[in-house]
Amino acid sequence: VDRFEPNLRIPGPTGLPPTVREAGARQMINHRGPEFAAMLGRILDGMRPYFGTTNDIAVVSASGTGGLEAAVVNVLSPGDRVLGVSIGSFGDRIAKIARVYGADVTKIDVEWGQAADPAALRAELERFADYKAILLTHNETSTGVMNTIADLTAVIRELAPDALIVVDSVSGVGAIPFQMDAWGADVVVTGSQKAWMSAPGLAMIAASDRAWAAMETATIPRYYFDLRAHRESHALGQTPFTPAIGVFYQVDEGIRLMTAEGQDNVYARHAACAAASRAGLLALGFELFADQAHASRTVTAAHVPDDLDWKSFNTELKRRGLVLAGGQGKLIGKIFRLGHLGSVTTEEILGAMNVLEIATIGAGRSVRPGAAVAAAQVASLESYGIVTPTAAGAGA
Ligand SMILES: Cc1ncc(COP(=O)(O)O)c(C=O)c1O
Repeated sequence: VDRFEPNLRIPGPTGLPPTVREAGARQMINHRGPEFAAMLGRILDGMRPYFGTTNDIAVVSASGTGGLEAAVVNVLSPGDRVLGVSIGSFGDRIAKIARVYGADVTKIDVEWGQAADPAALRAELERFADYKAILLTHNETSTGVMNTIADLTAVIRELAPDALIVVDSVSGVGAIPFQMDAWGADVVVTGSQKAWMSAPGLAMIAASDRAWAAMETATIPRYYFDLRAHRESHALGQTPFTPAIGVFYQVDEGIRLMTAEGQDNVYARHAACAAASRAGLLALGFELFADQAHASRTVTAAHVPDDLDWKSFNTELKRRGLVLAGGQGKLIGKIFRLGHLGSVTTEEILGAMNVLEIATIGAGRSVRPGAAVAAAQVASLESYGIVTPTAAGAGA
């Protein structure tokens, strides 16, 4: 096992494709020179279709949380009424950031594992609609749940047309279809270590005209994260401060790979890997954590069964080169998560199922050898439309 690199199946950072790794090792350049300007231009142009926007995007050297903080401090003022719709740990985080900066935050706390219900949002906005901003999570990495953003923004646009819609899509955009402009989102945040197959270090923040205008009157103090400075500097092919150039190289290469693959194919690959992950885990006898009607396409969470010694099970997985993520917050020790975003192939998911199957059988649990790998394979072929569900069922 030592000869192989681990199959890093956590929901970011993802493993890096070989050319992305090489890109990160390149010599530094003058970040005020033409090469950097050209690279920044390629990155911004390459990302816009994944955000589904023609808006300006700021690329800030920070982790995803920095991107969330930038979103909050640029459009809000202390005392602003804000509605945080939280479906997990990251929904809690952005609400907390808004509170830290003095916003008056009301929360809708959705049971973890469930998606936000447009009807519950409607009921809240019928009660009070004068929110300055509404905070949504596109893909909740802590629970493996994907919100249907279009359904939520439709309710907001109907009942609170002036509210700014801020979306955490750190683990969504680039891997899962997103239509910022069509859905009417105002600020959307993602991070380099997720769909973009790069090291952590860059947060990408897209803002609508309404959001850029709101930044002119918002009064929360900001300096490094003042997105107006980033936007002005980007217009000159630069960043206001010294950028994480090595990560820029990687994101540039990541986007080149994604462009070569094709946007629809990138989405189809994520859908297939997600389907394979769910089917494989179910075949192993695990119970999935998320409401399957809203299962994430980038991370799958499963319950740790009461009668499974997770620590020794996970030690065996790691010994065999499979790295999974545990639970976060109140889910520590209760669930485990398998990431399938960015640099991920169905082969890697089948490999993960192979290891999980060996460890599960080794732990004395009743699984027919090959069952998880086969179920994952069938699900990925169905997802790709290579076999139809009925034909696959008949053959299984
Ligand atoms: C949905 C979501 N939001 C925010 C973050 C925070 O990003 P970072 O850890 O890069 O600060 C993450 C990272 O896992 C995430 O998945």
